[in-house]
Amino acid sequence: MNNTPFSPSLLQVSGLYKSFMIGPRKLDILKDISFSVKPGEFVALQGASGAGKSTLLNLIGMLDRPDAGSIVLEDKETERMSDYDLAKIRNHKIGFVFQSYHLLPEFDALENVIIPARIARRPYAEVKNRGIELLSQVGLANRIAHRPSELSGGEQQRVAIARSLINDPSLLIADEPTGNLDSQTGREILDLLLALRSERSCTLVIATHDLDIAAQANQTLHIVDGSLRN
Ligand SMILES: Nc1ncnc2c1ncn2[C@@H]1O[C@H](COP(=O)(O)OP(=O)(O)OP(=O)(O)O)[C@@H](O)[C@H]1O
Ligand SMILES: [Mg+2]
Repeated sequence: MNNTPFSPSLLQVSGLYKSFMIGPRKLDILKDISFSVKPGEFVALQGASGAGKSTLLNLIGMLDRPDAGSIVLEDKETERMSDYDLAKIRNHKIGFVFQSYHLLPEFDALENVIIPARIARRPYAEVKNRGIELLSQVGLANRIAHRPSELSGGEQQRVAIARSLINDPSLLIADEPTGNLDSQTGREILDLLLALRSERSCTLVIATHDLDIAAQANQTLHIVDGSLRN
């Protein structure tokens, strides 16, 4: 892991603002958010419900754009990028695990896992093998041909984790990945994420209410009233 003070940032966020319009009212959700994440770092994002955690993760995951501020991922300033280029970065560099899995119901586990690799136009034979390998790693070697409706919540989240890793992202983002799971299954999913992260030395930013997880993080970001608490 490269955590020396001189190592370059993997992610540099500066002066980020985001608001939403609710009818005529403007809700300022994020106000002047700045932080940086080094390669391989494990970052826990905390804050009360509605504080803006998902909003922030969607911005750094390039699923949404800020009103102001800059996001630099691996030296690439994303502010003025086209939607096409952002989608490409998202596909190649970022893995995203959502609270509600977001699997495609008509595809089986393996097909779901390899979708990002097919979008990246990687050859089918290669990604199929990789997909099977990842599904085995997340403990689903015998669920490869199951559709999401034939899988438990924890299993669906395992598929989503395998999918997030198929293109070897440099940044893995997980937004309350255990929010829909019972505590035992949630624990297993968090342990799996942490194990995969340390095995790959991949950078992980995770929104979680779990204080044990936050205690293991290299850096904890806490959103209070739209800003990061020091
Ligand atoms: N697309 C949107 N349009 C309008 N308001 C939004 C939108 N997305 C989020 N908000 C508002 O922004 C605030 C922050 O929402 P966000 O989902 O980021 O919170 P959170 O910290 O992730 O909460 P939770 O822990 O419940 O997931 C909320 O008050 C929410 O209502
Ligand atoms: Mg949220």
